[in-house]
Amino acid sequence: MTEMELDPVGRPLPRFPEPAPLASHGPARVIAMCNQKGGVGKTTTTINLAAALAEVGRRVLIVDFDPQGAASVGLGISPHELERTVYNLMMERSASLAEVVRSTDIPNLDLLPANIDLSAAEVQLVSEVARESILARVLRPALDDYDVILIDCQPSLGLLTVNALTAAHGVLIPLECEFFALRGVALLVETIEKVRDRLNPRLEVDGILATMYDSRTLHAREVVARVHEAFGDTLLQTVIGRTVKFPDSSVAAEPIITYASNHSGASAYRQLARELIARGDAA
Ligand SMILES: Nc1ncnc2c1ncn2[C@@H]1O[C@H](COP(=O)(O)OP(=O)(O)OP(=O)(O)O)[C@@H](O)[C@H]1O
Ligand SMILES: [Mg+2]
Repeated sequence: MTEMELDPVGRPLPRFPEPAPLASHGPARVIAMCNQKGGVGKTTTTINLAAALAEVGRRVLIVDFDPQGAASVGLGISPHELERTVYNLMMERSASLAEVVRSTDIPNLDLLPANIDLSAAEVQLVSEVARESILARVLRPALDDYDVILIDCQPSLGLLTVNALTAAHGVLIPLECEFFALRGVALLVETIEKVRDRLNPRLEVDGILATMYDSRTLHAREVVARVHEAFGDTLLQTVIGRTVKFPDSSVAAEPIITYASNHSGASAYRQLARELIARGDAA
């Protein structure tokens, strides 16, 4: 008998099957990448999960929903040169999605870009009618064109993030494997529950993703074990290792999936895509 591989908390790790090609596309499942803690791997996960899904033929749209525009930059677009962004779609009724969405160098992967203009939306939205559901309205015409829409949230629980949660079917929570990782997660879960109760009854937490995992340190293993204790199988089996290839690929403005296709970091995001498809969280 071959020995069963185990994940970092000791659960048997199946070989997630290679996803079958899709016969047709849409309607999209919308997933918000969310954690109000900064620098935990939201943007890296958005870009690389999207690229891994696109690689297996899924039509994917990334919504850059951070005024820093990191997802746009990470895909090679200079945000200050953009004339129209997700901000215009939210604030101007005449703007049309098709005019603002851009294709990327990756087949099957499109981007709805953002730049610093979006920082004004947080204030301007306060006086709008149905201010929490503006992004949901903006994305509605795109649902039939994509299999997955990934929203890269900014590190806050403000009105923009509430808009992302209201537009989403699922939430993915990246957690950096370090000591204070769980601080703030209770508040995030509480926010998700409020949005589910008041605005978006279908919303579910798809999974918690351990990022920047260093298997050589006892500390990282302890953090993952604590997350598993607290959240059970909401903790995804795939973990993303800590490697300098991620910052390197950001500098190159490419996903690691294409920048270093054979690197373990690329394999990890391909496994994440397969795991989410196997769980029914992505098409
Ligand atoms: N697995 C990893 N190993 C090493 N470095 C990583 C890893 N994942 C991300 N990084 C790096 O850590 C930094 C933060 O990552 P990222 O921008 O994805 O986080 P974020 O949660 O989107 O941050 P913010 O809250 O500022 O939007 C980046 O420099 C990125 O290249
Ligand atoms: Mg980010």
